[in-house]
Amino acid sequence: MGEAIRLPAERRYPGELEALKQSDTDPRPPGWAMSPRAVQTFILGSRERALPWTDADGNGREVVISKKFYGHDVLVQRAIVTLASDRGLLLIGEPGTAKSWLSEHLSAAVSGSSLLAVQGSAGLTEDQIKYGWNYAMLLADGPTPRALVPGPLYLGMKRGKLVRFEEITRAPHEVQDTLLSCLSDKLLLVPELPGEDGVLFAQRGFNIIATANTRDRGVNEMSAALKRRFNFETVPPVADLQQEVEIVRQQVDGLLEDSGTTGPMLGDDVLELLVTTFHEIRGGRTVDGVTVEKSSTMMSTAEAVSVGFHSALHARFFGAQKVLPEHVVMHLAGTAVKDQGDQTGVLLNYWDVAVKPRARRDQGLWRAYWGAREHLTHKG
Ligand SMILES: Nc1ncnc2c1ncn2[C@@H]1O[C@H](COP(=O)(O)OP(=O)(O)OP(=O)(O)O)[C@@H](O)[C@H]1O
Ligand SMILES: [Mg+2]
Repeated sequence: MGEAIRLPAERRYPGELEALKQSDTDPRPPGWAMSPRAVQTFILGSRERALPWTDADGNGREVVISKKFYGHDVLVQRAIVTLASDRGLLLIGEPGTAKSWLSEHLSAAVSGSSLLAVQGSAGLTEDQIKYGWNYAMLLADGPTPRALVPGPLYLGMKRGKLVRFEEITRAPHEVQDTLLSCLSDKLLLVPELPGEDGVLFAQRGFNIIATANTRDRGVNEMSAALKRRFNFETVPPVADLQQEVEIVRQQVDGLLEDSGTTGPMLGDDVLELLVTTFHEIRGGRTVDGVTVEKSSTMMSTAEAVSVGFHSALHARFFGAQKVLPEHVVMHLAGTAVKDQGDQTGVLLNYWDVAVKPRARRDQGLWRAYWGAREHLTHKG
């Protein structure tokens, strides 16, 4: 048997989800697997409080609900309210701000599954989200319910579950418009099938949770009619440095644990160096108030996680005893090249303006960070 690279949220936290359901005393919106308050706890954590639950074998167990999203509680609460309403939820924001992450975890808690998902792209067609046909059966017997191959939208409506629509603005307008009737009339027509089989009424619990990246083709280009059927929720980048350190630590540790490798972890001091760099370049200012060249797109928290993970893997693969500042610099360079137009200049500027003075003052690991600057230009 192979091993999955990554499991969906509902498979990663089965104990947490079960404990929340078992201890849930609040009313559940129709079709929901748990109450809004329990959904909130799944996303924001139980603050060290252990929840008792009984597993399938009847054993009494306890679990602390881990914090999965760092941000304003109110944002999460509003998102949950929208999902229980007649409007869809659209999470918008800069790349790497946990829009998809939040959508996955909300679906896992509300519907018990995050797998009814559509990825928006220019090539997406209506059949892929609504339904298609098993052509062998179609030719043999004509259109029958048995020959219908349901897509995620069809299944979500039929089962009363949340459907995730990733990068909705990248889908063609005709496909976006398909959502209009599903969201307003809560039904899906299958004109090929006669009578009652030709109308699918959405069951309670159905809704759409979409994400859109503000850097991609615009949210503004969505039709006004569709926009009206969604509540927009902007997910901002993490504002607090210590909180971002916490996120990156948690994510990198998890990735290393799942990586099937052994060796050094990302130490606190190197982690802080890495996250400080991302945080300061994103804000265009250092914590000591010095102005640096700014780049908000390339320096997302998601990218920081990736650089941290790769730095540690690098150290592990090539026999280093510790993850060093130079490992970070080596993997940071690739981040800058990804952005529109090479942004290596932004990093070089940061090294001159922010890293150098700290190295001079011999602050922590900044001297080693400065010493590794040749890796920024890929020549090292
Ligand atoms: N506020 C946050 N709380 C928890 N994790 C965060 C936060 N911000 C970023 N992350 C981490 O960064 C990653 C964000 O990735 P995700 O794919 O969800 O971003 P996204 O907003 O969908 O980006 P894109 O617009 O590029 O699709 C997640 O793995 C998550 O761990
Ligand atoms: Mg995303």
